[in-house]
Amino acid sequence: MIISSTTDYRAAAQKRLPPFLFHYIDGGAYAEKTLGRNVSDLADVALRQRVLKDMSKLDTSIELFGEKLALPVALSPVGLTGMYARRGEVQAAMAADKKGIPFTLSTVSVCPIEEVAPKIKRPMWFQLYVLKDRGFMKNALERAQAAGVSTLVFTVDMPVPGARYRDAHSGMSGPNAAMRRYLQAVTHPHWALDVGLMGRPHTLGNISTYLGKNVSLEDYMGYLGANFDPSISWSDLEWIRDFWKGPMVIKGILDPEDAKDAVRFGADGIIVSNHGGRQLDGVLSSARALPAIADAVKGQIKILADSGIRNGLDIVRMLALGADCTMIGRAFIYALAADGGAGVSNLLDLLEKEMRVAMTLTSVKNVSEITGNLLVKEG
Ligand code: FNR
Ligand code: LAC
Repeated sequence: MIISSTTDYRAAAQKRLPPFLFHYIDGGAYAEKTLGRNVSDLADVALRQRVLKDMSKLDTSIELFGEKLALPVALSPVGLTGMYARRGEVQAAMAADKKGIPFTLSTVSVCPIEEVAPKIKRPMWFQLYVLKDRGFMKNALERAQAAGVSTLVFTVDMPVPGARYRDAHSGMSGPNAAMRRYLQAVTHPHWALDVGLMGRPHTLGNISTYLGKNVSLEDYMGYLGANFDPSISWSDLEWIRDFWKGPMVIKGILDPEDAKDAVRFGADGIIVSNHGGRQLDGVLSSARALPAIADAVKGQIKILADSGIRNGLDIVRMLALGADCTMIGRAFIYALAADGGAGVSNLLDLLEKEMRVAMTLTSVKNVSEITGNLLVKEG
């Protein structure tokens, strides 16, 4: 199979994964309008082509929260990454590390903090969800600090899981789900060997470590619905702000008023995101929400953005719309599912190459020159 883009990795992932996992990754909420617009609105952003400015030397690196990033990209937290490839969190983290960009471990990862952090040289980022069992939050933060995690990503757009219709049909949830998943596994032998047999234990690693017993993935969506805490509010964040010594970034901001609240609260960064179209369908794509948020808070807080980035040109577009750094979710997950850590490494190389082409043809020599000036103004 010829691999030249995220689209190719998506096709390869679909072949390799049992459908319940592919559709969990690939799908979004309700009619998946926002999921589609995340990609199409970004693809519609026109940049000004500029020529003849000696673009032989380019610098794609940035500084963020005291860290040097080789690209203005971090890997977004993705639940169950260890189900898409054997101990997938470790493989993805090592690929990000090799490239010189941060990996963010999800609360609902398969591999726990202690399994991933020692495998990489850079400090890891950790994403926190608030569970009804509040003891978990303190335990997770203490363990993250002990493992040398630098940046805390606090996700606020999933107090409850979104309505995702594909999951019931695919066997992720719904009637006879366990039997359907078993039948899918035996008809996908590469995955069954790599992950099903060799990738054990299949548990929610961080939560199992806290409880001292395995939390299985038997009813994962049911678990999220029952254990995520919809009562979270800014006051929960204050406790964390006091407890957490490093940078704290709030993920899931889509409105300028919430962005201003994040500045008032004293967060170090926000991630403009609609969770990849997995939560409230119909909301603005990140590409459309970002300019107004940048108008409101740019310079007062670091602005990261994800949702819809599929190639290196999209990274430059998101930066031109107002982001200081971008994050990628599905793009790296498809690559991981298709070809493990080597797939993620290759994808990151592709993104860099494409970013360099975009920078060359817009005549920007470094990332700080990627501003609204690059956008074609309508009319
Ligand atoms: C996610 N996302 C997510 N976010 C988070 O804060 N914690 C998590 O555990 C997860 N889990 C998760 C699983 C899967 C399968 C996907 C696809 C996404 C959201 C993720 O961090 C990110 O915001 C989106 O994936 C960005 O959109 P793109 O890049 O996938 O379009
Ligand atoms: C999801 C969660 C786990 O989007 O963030 O499925």
